Amino acid sequence: MNVLFEKIDRIVIAKLNRPKALNALNSELMHELISGLLEYDKSPEIGCIIITGNKKAFCAGADIKEMAEKDFTAMFNEDYFGYWEIFSRIKTPIIAAVNGYAFGGGCELAMMCDIIYASENAQFGQPEIKLGVIPGIGGTQRLTKLVGKSKAMEIILTGKTINAEEAEKIGLITQVLPKENFTKQIIKKAHLIASYSKTALKAAKEATNQALESSLKDGIVFERKLFHSLFHTQNQTEGMSAFLEKRTPNFN
Ligand code: CAA
Repeated sequence: MNVLFEKIDRIVIAKLNRPKALNALNSELMHELISGLLEYDKSPEIGCIIITGNKKAFCAGADIKEMAEKDFTAMFNEDYFGYWEIFSRIKTPIIAAVNGYAFGGGCELAMMCDIIYASENAQFGQPEIKLGVIPGIGGTQRLTKLVGKSKAMEIILTGKTINAEEAEKIGLITQVLPKENFTKQIIKKAHLIASYSKTALKAAKEATNQALESSLKDGIVFERKLFHSLFHTQNQTEGMSAFLEKRTPNFN
């Protein structure tokens, strides 16, 4: 199995499991990861997903051995990497928990997630230029939106490695966390997210992502429609009643 899924109450941990290849993303891993996530996304019980690797590598990128054999015709006809677009349809919040290397497709996978926590020893980079290619799972686009053109250009054109501290400073990641009990700390954060209304979480994710796609005016209209629609939900009634009654809400 290339990905190990573990469900803990309302959260799921997806652990990339190709340690000998530093969790390089081959087609099998991609399909296992995305099909597993789609299943959990449908479950009303699951409110947050964590994607992680191991201490040495979150993921060292797309599988160079798999790609090296291919020519343009194969890449084009297979629409190689096209399947990753389905990842963006997952509505449940996803946290990337990055230990060790997050290079190339590994950095791009982290950027497809909603929140990125990195341990002190994490390293990020888009080294594709060293292989005679460019990022192919959205790196040029997402990195630029996260850190701005100037920083993205430097990272992509030089293939340099960024440590966790710098990654946080430039806005590539959410936060650096101590490496001791790294996973435990993230599980705690995931449980907090998962304790909220799943419908509200999905709406919040959708509306926030919309900010990257539309003008401010259109984005605000989109947000307001989702905001209004949440007044159809039992969890809105519960959340607001609980506040007024000075008790903890019990979201279903
Ligand atoms: N694809 C396939 N195999 C990989 C891999 C990758 N991206 N990264 C590492 N591996 C394999 C190595 O080939 C090696 O396998 P063998 O033992 O069979 O030789 C094993 O993982 C361990 O790797 P190293 O011996 O190289 O480990 P290291 O600790 O010395 O170095 C590293 C670690 C610096 C991450 C180095 O492995 C490396 O530079 N990897 C490639 C990183 C890279 O270029 N990523 C971008 C890939 S292209 C891409 O991702 C395109 C895109 O946009 C999606």
